[in-house]
Amino acid sequence: MCRRMNSARWSDGADPEDVRDVLREYYRAVKATIERFGGVVEKFIGDAVMAVFGSPVARGDDAERAVRAALAIPRIIEQLNASSPHPDLEIHMAVNTGEAVVTIDPGSPDGDLLVAGDVVNTASRLQGAAPPGRVLIGEETFRATRRVIRSEPVPAVAAKGKREPIPAWVAIEALVPLAVRPAQMPFVGRDGESGLVRDIWSRAVAERRPHLVTILGEAGIGKTRLAEEFSFDVKETGGQAFHVRELPYEQSSGYETFVQLVHEVAGIFESDPNPVAMAKLEASLDHLGLADPALVQLLSVFARTPEVVADDRRSLFDAARRYVEALSSTPGTLIVFEDVHWAHPSTLDLITSLAGRARDAPIVFLALARPELLDLRPAWGGGLSSSTTMRLEPLPAASAHWLAAGLVGEEPEIAQRIELAASGNPLFIEEMAAWMLERDGTDDELPTTVRAMIAARLDALPREERDVVFDASVVGKVFWAGPLASLRPDQGDLDEILGSLERRDLIRMERASAVEGDRARRERHEAVARYVEEAAPDTAAVAAILAYHWREAGDPERAVTYLLVAAERAEQAWAYPEAVALYEDALGLIPRDDDRRRSIGLRRTVAGIRHEHTVMEEEQLKRLAADGSA
Ligand SMILES: Nc1ncnc2c1ncn2[C@@H]1O[C@H](COP(=O)(O)OP(=O)(O)O)[C@@H](O)[C@H]1O
Ligand SMILES: [Mg+2]
Repeated sequence: MCRRMNSARWSDGADPEDVRDVLREYYRAVKATIERFGGVVEKFIGDAVMAVFGSPVARGDDAERAVRAALAIPRIIEQLNASSPHPDLEIHMAVNTGEAVVTIDPGSPDGDLLVAGDVVNTASRLQGAAPPGRVLIGEETFRATRRVIRSEPVPAVAAKGKREPIPAWVAIEALVPLAVRPAQMPFVGRDGESGLVRDIWSRAVAERRPHLVTILGEAGIGKTRLAEEFSFDVKETGGQAFHVRELPYEQSSGYETFVQLVHEVAGIFESDPNPVAMAKLEASLDHLGLADPALVQLLSVFARTPEVVADDRRSLFDAARRYVEALSSTPGTLIVFEDVHWAHPSTLDLITSLAGRARDAPIVFLALARPELLDLRPAWGGGLSSSTTMRLEPLPAASAHWLAAGLVGEEPEIAQRIELAASGNPLFIEEMAAWMLERDGTDDELPTTVRAMIAARLDALPREERDVVFDASVVGKVFWAGPLASLRPDQGDLDEILGSLERRDLIRMERASAVEGDRARRERHEAVARYVEEAAPDTAAVAAILAYHWREAGDPERAVTYLLVAAERAEQAWAYPEAVALYEDALGLIPRDDDRRRSIGLRRTVAGIRHEHTVMEEEQLKRLAADGSA
């Protein structure tokens, strides 16, 4: 429900009465420009236009596309002004980035988006302060676009209802065309691995035999990049590629990534009321040739619009299998599951089951995970006839050198030292190059390991900033400015120092709330929880999220209520391990002498037993099937 988005807003300074026709044309032209850059016009308010980028689908470069759209608009206005006898239109624009609550306007036949949250208010303030014909951007937008768009700082914008003025920049021009990504170095040195994946793909496609490919590797070694490059190839040849991603959430009602897949294919937003989501699911299944009502009902579990409880997990997994078989199309379908080491047990079971049982379908499941996955599931991929697991090793020296050289410029010696110190991990190479650039290349001592590099980056800080980092590390991995201030009697410029540390990527600030302290943070969680309660068409579908916010808001009672709802949902979906975890979280929040402990404890135990039974029964069936066919 919370999505990363950018909003742009502008208005003209002329009298709307005089220029109604021009305005209509202006709306049309502005809307077309926004859509060309991948945005969605949320609404026209009077003479203002509000657009959203990154919802429903976030693309990683949403901020950039929003700023590009805004930069393209003055030219349109110029043309309109030149061709109209009316007084000239004047336009003020702003782009701001952050989390917002996005819902679909229930009263609108076209499913208009409704966007709310601080990010929108801030956009509106910035827009109000923008000079005519210019684009003001907020801090997060600036950070996200600074490598590709030149912007200049302007004085912070004072705003009603905000203690601090809003930092602002004026966007000047794009530095490179949209397609060019200087932020990313060309893909190097994975010929062997790419070749292997390509061969598996060709066979899976030719024989219409599904295959599970698992790529294991430490953080930053290049798993995501390899998958991105491969999906690109797949799409080039007319195939389809889907990317779904596990998130490191503790709680889940089950099948996170599969739900993402079904939602994406059907165009379902989390904010869709159940009947709308259900209608979209039905349309999508119809399109895939899966109109059978029993199947639709089973698959509704994965759209989070469950209408029935499945009789057993097998029929649920069977429905999922038929779904991916129907989804696969010539010349082939790739489904990338990212960060599988964070997956909950039911998702791991589901992926294994799909890969093992899908038939006559040109489909490759690509699972990316850190090696911890094998601690979680030592036998991952083991029982499958079509499964390949490979480890992504460090980049070969030549490629690492080439990457480092590309990042630090013509300094062969420095490039070589980076290459040695990063031991072939491309993320570390990027980090070290950043460290070099931060020091303007005037450095003589290059750290020899990553740990040393981080220490060195800290050492290179001005004394005051370094002290703050050490104080903060005392407070903890997550820290608040309040306790930090109490450790520093003369804390005058703490905010400024924190800002500077954040600019160097050494700390990450949660704007406003976290810095204002515990109470403000709790209030913010409460506000989010209340908003979600009000905006969500079906609170049961987002119960795990609500439980989290209420717990953070310091209201365990409400958190427990939602945890129990989430647990029930998980049980309905045969995601028993998740249900057990949710019941345990609930027990953790209930006082020792509370009567409810027994019944919740009982439900937890029953869920645990049911899970064991499910697994045992499935094993038995598998054995029977094997005996039968032997
Ligand atoms: N073979 C490669 N060539 C160039 N850059 C790479 C390569 N592999 C990874 N990178 C870059 O290194 C960084 C980390 O890679 P990523 O794929 O996100 O790692 P992982 O998913 O394993 O954590 C990214 O910026 C990525 O673009
Ligand atoms: Mg990754």
